[in-house]
Amino acid sequence: MSKPLTIADLKTLAQRRVPKMFFDYADSGAWTEGTYRANEEDFSKIKLRQRVLVDMTNRSLATTMIGEQASMPVALAPTGMCGMQHADGEMLAAKAAEEFGVPFTLSTMSICSIEDVASVTSRPFWFQLYVMRDRAFVEALIERAKAAKCSALVVTADLQILGQRHKDLRNGLSAPPKWTLNHAIQLATRPKWCLTMLQTKRRGFGNIVGHAKNVSDLSSLGAWTAEQFDPRLSWKDIEWIKKLWGGKLIIKGILDEEDARAAADTGADAIIVSNHGGRQLDGALSSISMLPRIVEAVGDRTEVHFDGGIRSGQDVLKAVALGARGTYIGRPFLYGLGAMGKPGVTTALEILRREMDITMALCGKRDIQAVDRNIIADVRF
Ligand code: FNR
Repeated sequence: MSKPLTIADLKTLAQRRVPKMFFDYADSGAWTEGTYRANEEDFSKIKLRQRVLVDMTNRSLATTMIGEQASMPVALAPTGMCGMQHADGEMLAAKAAEEFGVPFTLSTMSICSIEDVASVTSRPFWFQLYVMRDRAFVEALIERAKAAKCSALVVTADLQILGQRHKDLRNGLSAPPKWTLNHAIQLATRPKWCLTMLQTKRRGFGNIVGHAKNVSDLSSLGAWTAEQFDPRLSWKDIEWIKKLWGGKLIIKGILDEEDARAAADTGADAIIVSNHGGRQLDGALSSISMLPRIVEAVGDRTEVHFDGGIRSGQDVLKAVALGARGTYIGRPFLYGLGAMGKPGVTTALEILRREMDITMALCGKRDIQAVDRNIIADVRF
């Protein structure tokens, strides 16, 4: 394939390069994947206003998210196991984000650890927290994020239990891969991936192994993770975390007006309208269709961020027009990472920037700060 021009091109390349179980892990949604599809499809229900004969010189996409400069309103979303899309994936993606001038969010379930990512970046990154039953482990994670000078904590609220993804179960997903015949075939057909993976020692969950009590190897890790997501998590815990952390706090996974108001009540610096990329409650509404309602519900009490289904710069612009201060991409950068490593993440960001810039100009705007509902001709969710 010649130079990738779209996120879909990166997806095609990633599928050729990444072993099936890890490509599927990135590419799957819960159950029927209806919400996953709706996240993408509902963007096409928003139509833009074409404007002409306005001065389109000197355009700017620069903005801030929770007061931090961003070269465009896009951050990298926390995604587990980036380091299985490409060796040392989190370190590469964080570097690409830093050079591009956009925020990077490291998942609790990353392959590279908080310390690994801190060692290759100079711009502070954000850390995403899954609240585990083992609260001593949670406290220690928060301390490690502080020590690494992370500038925001993103608490994920929509994964107290795991939504079932059929593909992962059928593929027997594990990191690193287990030595079954099926996995061996998957790896044998992806020699380049294997070669780079053999050159790194980072092949387990870097934030957990050697840090959580009684987790020293893979089999103990599997058992620990399965029982650690905490089904009792409540708004009270958010207060506890907020106090413990003491810095900028973002609550991720809000898809309902009532929850949005409750999140704003906690004093969080931002909320992320998200259904976890359609990976949790299949049957939930698309993220973009809920965005206007949530913006309306919280007003300016907290920043509203958005993720789910962004596959182009047009999609980012539409989310901004509907009231998102910033957006996050999950799969688009994972496809880039799987396809080409760090340059692939940069390519994904460049694709979005180019599309956003051209679309903004054709809508008659020169500055992302001036983009609002006015650029929208019609919305039919
Ligand atoms: C995720 N997501 C996620 N969210 C989170 O808070 N912690 C995590 O560890 C993960 N892990 C994860 C893995 C993979 C492979 C994907 C695709 C997603 C959800 C993620 O942060 C984000 O909400 C969605 O990815 C946004 O949707 P798109 O951009 O992928 O459509």
